[in-house]
Order: sequence, then structure tokens, then C-alpha cells
Amino acid sequence: MKLRIDKFLADMGQGSRSEIKEYIRKGLVSVNGAVIKSPSEKADTELDTVSLNGVKIEYAVFEYYVMNKPAGVISATEDSREKTVLDLIKSRREDLFPVGRLDKDTEGLLLITNDGQLAHELLSPRRHVDKTYFVRTKGKLSNEHAGLIAGGLRVDEEFTALPGRLEIIKSGEESEAFITVHEGKFHQVKRMMEACGCSVTYLKRISMGGLKLPKELEPGEYRALTPPELSDLKKK
Ligand code: URA
Repeated sequence: MKLRIDKFLADMGQGSRSEIKEYIRKGLVSVNGAVIKSPSEKADTELDTVSLNGVKIEYAVFEYYVMNKPAGVISATEDSREKTVLDLIKSRREDLFPVGRLDKDTEGLLLITNDGQLAHELLSPRRHVDKTYFVRTKGKLSNEHAGLIAGGLRVDEEFTALPGRLEIIKSGEESEAFITVHEGKFHQVKRMMEACGCSVTYLKRISMGGLKLPKELEPGEYRALTPPELSDLKKK
């Protein structure tokens, strides 16, 4: 893929477009050993060697981040009023997006990438990728509910969930459980809990397919996926 040098370096986090123009003006950027003069010159991401200040910069076509989404931000790329998950990411790539949505008040695992093909596969209704959440409810969750969810819970007239799994951690006026679902319908877990006579007071996604929320990530933190995490995600 051929890219303008200023985009190439900006995508790789080497500075803003104007900072990069300044580096070029100062003669700090070279392609295949030759100093370039204009930010509009192009380089091939696979064939050419681009260096900044003598340091070779490799171009990564795709970026993959796992975030522990905090409550209070929306799962969108940009919004005129609300803070978005992309506002939390320092990468300057303009093509990143969150894979699927978590509600504004939901926390937990969110994959952020520019790999449209992988996103499509993870979100495809036909692939039934498992998503596991920790849920806290007002209202008692019981083994009866676990049985209903295992058999495919009828949520309302329009939606019966695919068979899922409810593992109860605590059952009482306030209950806690892990719930695994195979679709990503709007407010799915909240609606399933309502259908069980409970209302969600806290929801956090802890895994998606083969990818688990890394324990070290506090809400609002993120990091690049490791190669094994990426291959686990692609397997599912
Ligand atoms: N189910 C919900 O109800 N909300 C989410 O954010 C995710 C799953």
C-alpha cells in the first residue's frame, strides 16, 4: 500500500501532521536512504524503508487495542456532546473504531481496531461469538432463571435469546452472576434480566470469544493486543 509520508508517520504515532512537516523541512525523514523534501511524497508500506532521525519506522496496517471501557463514555468514534471511547485512545489513526457497542453505563472489555474484516466476523450474527458479562441485579436470580436462560429465554414478543449460561455467584435481594450470551442485541443482558424480574445495577463485559479482559486494566485503560491474544480472537 502506498501512503503519503506524513500520513505514514502520523499513523505510526510519530507526531501530528504539522510536526511531521517540520521534521521533513529539517531533513530528518528519508525513504530508502534518500532525504525527502515534501510531505506529499509517497512510500510503499511493504517495500520501502522509511526512517525518522535515522530510526527505521515500520508501518502496521492494522492496530488492535483492548480497553476496559469505563462507565460514562459512549461506544462511538466521535460525538459532538458525549465523550467517546476513541477520545481515550492516544493513537492518531483516524480509522479506528470500537467493535460493537457497550451501553454508556456498561464497563469492561471493548476491542478497538481498524480491521473491518475481523470486526465483521466477530459481530456477524451467524458466528454466535460468546460474550460473558459480570452482572449485579436488584432482585433475586435463581437456578430457575439459569434453566430458562439455558433453554433460550423468551425476552419479549420479538426476541427469544439463543441458549445462554447463567452462573449465579450470589442470590438474594441483590444478586450477582456471570452471564454468557451469543448475540449482541440492543440492551440484551438488561432485557434478559428484566425478563427474569430483576433490574441491572452494574454490568461489565469480561470476555468476547477467546479474548479476556486483562486483569491489569483499570477502567479507562487500554493496551495493544498481544500476538497470542490476537490469534485466539481470530480462532473463534
Ligand atoms: N447487554 C446490555 O444490556 N448492555 C450492554 O452494554 C451489553 C450487553
